[in-house]
Amino acid sequence: MTTTRRRFLRSGWKLGGTILTAAAGWTTYESLRPLVGSATGATVELGTPSNYAPGTATYVSAARLFVANTGSFLYAMSQKCPHLGCRVPFCESSGQFECPCHGSKYNIGGEWIEGPAPRGLDRFALTLDSKTGTLSADTSTVIVGPPRGAKQFVTPAKGPSCIPKA
Ligand code: FES
Repeated sequence: MTTTRRRFLRSGWKLGGTILTAAAGWTTYESLRPLVGSATGATVELGTPSNYAPGTATYVSAARLFVANTGSFLYAMSQKCPHLGCRVPFCESSGQFECPCHGSKYNIGGEWIEGPAPRGLDRFALTLDSKTGTLSADTSTVIVGPPRGAKQFVTPAKGPSCIPKA
């Protein structure tokens, strides 16, 4: 009886450890895997401009893009890194987009700051319906991101980076 319980507990720990390891691996893979296509390919309504405060980048999961408000412009921004296609999150502490794969960084306007990426983040056409006051993004056409050296939105990092130093 005791031997059976011990065996069961030993097997349970092994099974639990295997499940946890698999879950951690899947989570890491999902967050770092290159994206084949970054947006939905459709026109997506994004609500009103007042939903996006100046200096923020809001991820819209239904459209798989960010709406970034530079303070003077609103952009519908691709989450796909132009280097090798990883998902690029917005780092709240630095106020910049920071790619976790190879460290490319982009300012709030998606302009390249540093790292191996060849250009800034790609964008999608963003339109404001004058009757309804709502924004929509056409994700069927990618607007190639600004070239390296574009400096329309030069702002220093407002705080620490989200990418740990090696
Ligand atoms: S995929 Fe983003 S820096 Fe390489």
